[in-house]
Amino acid sequence: MQKTSDVLWQDTQHQTLFDLIERIKEVPFDPDILVRLKLYAEHHFILEETYMEALDYPYRSEHVAAHDRFREELAAMLETDPSMHKALQDSLSDFLYKWLKLHVLGIDKQLEAFVLESPLK
Ligand SMILES: [Fe+2]
Ligand SMILES: [Fe+2]
Repeated sequence: MQKTSDVLWQDTQHQTLFDLIERIKEVPFDPDILVRLKLYAEHHFILEETYMEALDYPYRSEHVAAHDRFREELAAMLETDPSMHKALQDSLSDFLYKWLKLHVLGIDKQLEAFVLESPLK
């Protein structure tokens, strides 16, 4: 994935998330990938949400709601067993990749700009 942010921790964490999402396509499927993705996404979302709270970020509720939708999607995926179908692995991975790309190049860029202008970067 291209660079997503000039805030170093934000870009590094996004790259790790994209790498984990790509690995959902691997055969044989490793069910731990979805668990690792869930844990890492939670770690990343909490850090962004901590910055939003600390900076009194004006678009916090919309951004947290977007994170919550991703959390719900991942939780639902953890209930499935994509190892049975390569096509399902690919579609889960593509769905998450597209969602994350839209998020990091959209709503996260607004947060990035706000963080860069703050004393907390
Ligand atoms: Fe992010
Ligand atoms: Fe975000």
